Amino acid sequence: MDQIAYGGDYNPEQWPEEVWTTDVALMREAGVNLVSVGIFAWAMLEPAPGEYEFGWLDRNLDLLHAAGIAVDLATPTAAPPPWFLRRHPEAAPITRDGVRLGGGARQSFCPSSPAYAAASAGITEQLARRYAGHPALVLWHSHNEYGGVNAFCYCATSGAAFRNWLRDRYGDLGKLNEAWGSTFWSHRFGDWDEIEPPIAAPTTVNPAQELDFFRFSSDAHLANFRRERDILHRLAPGVPVTTNFMLANCKNIDYWKWSTEVDVVSNDHYLQAERADNHIELAMCADLTRSVAHGRPWLLMEHSTNAVNWQPRNLAKGPGEMRRNSMQHLARGADGILFFQWRASRFGAEKFHSAMLPHGGTGTRTWREVVELGAELGGLAELRDSRVTAEVALLWDWESWWGLELPWRPSQDLSFRDRQEAFYEPLWRAHRTVDFAHPEAALGAYPLVVAPSSYLLTPGAADNLRRYVAGGGTLLVSYFSGIVDAHDAVHPGGYPGALRDLLGLVVEEFEPLAAGRTIGLDDGRTADTWAERLELRGATALARYADGPAAGLPAITRHGYGAGQAFYVSTRLTPGGTAALLAEVSAAAGLAATDLPADVEVVRRRSGTAEYLIAINHGQHTAVVPGAGVELLTGDPVAGGLPVPAGSVRVLRCGS
Ligand code: GAL
Repeated sequence: MDQIAYGGDYNPEQWPEEVWTTDVALMREAGVNLVSVGIFAWAMLEPAPGEYEFGWLDRNLDLLHAAGIAVDLATPTAAPPPWFLRRHPEAAPITRDGVRLGGGARQSFCPSSPAYAAASAGITEQLARRYAGHPALVLWHSHNEYGGVNAFCYCATSGAAFRNWLRDRYGDLGKLNEAWGSTFWSHRFGDWDEIEPPIAAPTTVNPAQELDFFRFSSDAHLANFRRERDILHRLAPGVPVTTNFMLANCKNIDYWKWSTEVDVVSNDHYLQAERADNHIELAMCADLTRSVAHGRPWLLMEHSTNAVNWQPRNLAKGPGEMRRNSMQHLARGADGILFFQWRASRFGAEKFHSAMLPHGGTGTRTWREVVELGAELGGLAELRDSRVTAEVALLWDWESWWGLELPWRPSQDLSFRDRQEAFYEPLWRAHRTVDFAHPEAALGAYPLVVAPSSYLLTPGAADNLRRYVAGGGTLLVSYFSGIVDAHDAVHPGGYPGALRDLLGLVVEEFEPLAAGRTIGLDDGRTADTWAERLELRGATALARYADGPAAGLPAITRHGYGAGQAFYVSTRLTPGGTAALLAEVSAAAGLAATDLPADVEVVRRRSGTAEYLIAINHGQHTAVVPGAGVELLTGDPVAGGLPVPAGSVRVLRCGS
């Protein structure tokens, strides 16, 4: 596309055809240039098995094309029609507790079901054959949020598929027994058929089995995606295929593995409405999306113009908030801003979800803001394909997330997202641009790497971190990192087995703290949740515990290693304490402090010789961001600083 993509999910099947003409006229008024069509339309496209009705979709796509609106055409496979489960009752998903889930919702299918594979391939093939050459088609939207509500299935078919997956992974049962530590609690398997998914059991199930079931389940969804993608590539060569991810908020899918499978990364993000700093969480998700896209431009496939309908209290967005949200995604590398959905549904489970065109129609604030945003994005086409460069990498690994939060850890207060956000937020406030990286990824380009909660760390990842630091990098590791390998087995030789030499210390004992307990450090910082008894073997103490179970022992350390340095923080500092620590570590990494105004988000996108600065003011007062060039939203020349009014956004093409 030669524009920033703008639009949303469009469900014409919910409306009489006469409404479509109005839809298209209003889309043009709003500057919409891309819509995702037919995501949940399977029952209308294939009303009975093998019987197809494409006439309505033909007419709809033709109408869109005539209006110059491009189409992201969906395979409707996230919502099998009622006939599917009636015909294939065995394809219903079964929960861990053995409950068979019914239809009447969406994603009611077992991800390993052969019947689902056949039916979804069937409709995908029909769509690909019919619409491959349609002039409106620019992108395929496979399925919708794979694993969103049916991440795991524990039925007999899934059990058999799990065993096949394990056979592929381990080859022989002896290797599996060893990897799973199956001498524990008499888990040794004598036959593959003795292995089940981790269904509800009298007590905690083997954690290695749990981890492999996470991996298997993510792969089962990936296999479904690949099947559709391959059909689409074969029958519609040249048309890219995407599927909408749920980055940062979906624990169950290992998106690093998916990142190279899609032609374009796209993501759905919904604000946590009741959270005061929800724009920082948005920025984190956007940065994670860009990172999963390996720095390439990505699409915001869904967000909301206003309130959603599925949170406990669905707060409306304030004036200008939707614009700020959209521009944050754009700033962080999105080349398209789309919404769920175009026109608010009159019926069904999502009728109280906002849309570009609300129930109240064009007389609403939402509509006016949608039209204004469309006009603004229309003037920002030159930003397409420009890239964001980050100076800090946060390690993010779904496998570690899975492992960290399995039952029977030293404390139930250990949380993957908590640590990620704890480090992301002060970096955001310090105006640092952050990438997320897999622990085995190349890190050499980053002056600073932070490992917020790398509980599971393979020997390969540990080597990677050693190489990074030895080569001159600065690493900050937080507590309970480097503890286990890929099978949740403790690295031998004392904690943190994978990182002892790099950090220059040994953790002799974990000291989780009682709920509500706070402890002090000798530099005045306070902490809660967790402490450790550290024994230094080369590292120096930067701060010690002033009280609590590890009183007098080091709490924060630094270790020179090769040409670089590794910092360790063994407790859960307050947000202020974490911010101060990050400031010290950033300075040690050679990152200059910025003098940008507080609460103003400033991100740069670069392409060739052009540089764009996007400034979003989340605060209450006008702030001036240093810079000179041309303000693209107004066309005004800027010299000596860019004023950004409270709640507003400015986009500067830098250079005088
Ligand atoms: C998404 C989903 C959409 C819609 C939206 C509502 O997770 O993909 O179909 O349900 O949530 O917020």
